[in-house]
Amino acid sequence: MNPKYLILVALLLSESIGAMARQPDPMGRKIYESKCTRCHGRDGTRGLFGAKNLQTSKLDDKTLYETISEGRRIMPSWKEKLTPEEIHQVVRYVKTLRSTHNQQ
Ligand code: HEC
Repeated sequence: MNPKYLILVALLLSESIGAMARQPDPMGRKIYESKCTRCHGRDGTRGLFGAKNLQTSKLDDKTLYETISEGRRIMPSWKEKLTPEEIHQVVRYVKTLRSTHNQQ
């Protein structure tokens, strides 16, 4: 194969992998929109019942996971309703709400 062609393929591949990495987690988004928006809102800022603003939340992955799984005060626990994998997906999605905030 022509080496120039190989370089082109490599460039295209790395571009599409980069684009995938920038996409919000699609499963996480689905879970978030069906289970979390009623208190947190689509963009994470609704704040119903004192729900924390997820755009300015600074929790690390582990604490996010624990908070979503165990719940906190009015925030319900999700570990009976979501699988660990689904909680990870929603953790990834919640973090993408922060980048919306940073872009503004
Ligand atoms: C019934 C309303 C309600 C629903 C539904 C809800 N939350 Fe919450 N959430 C809250 C409240 C209230 C708090 C603040 C808890 C407290 O008092 O510390 C909170 C806090 C959080 C926090 C902690 C933020 C921080 O910086 O401390 C995260 C993360 C979070 N919610 C994610 C989620 C996710 C993900 C879902 C969906 C799976 C969800 N929440 C569904 C009400 C809700």
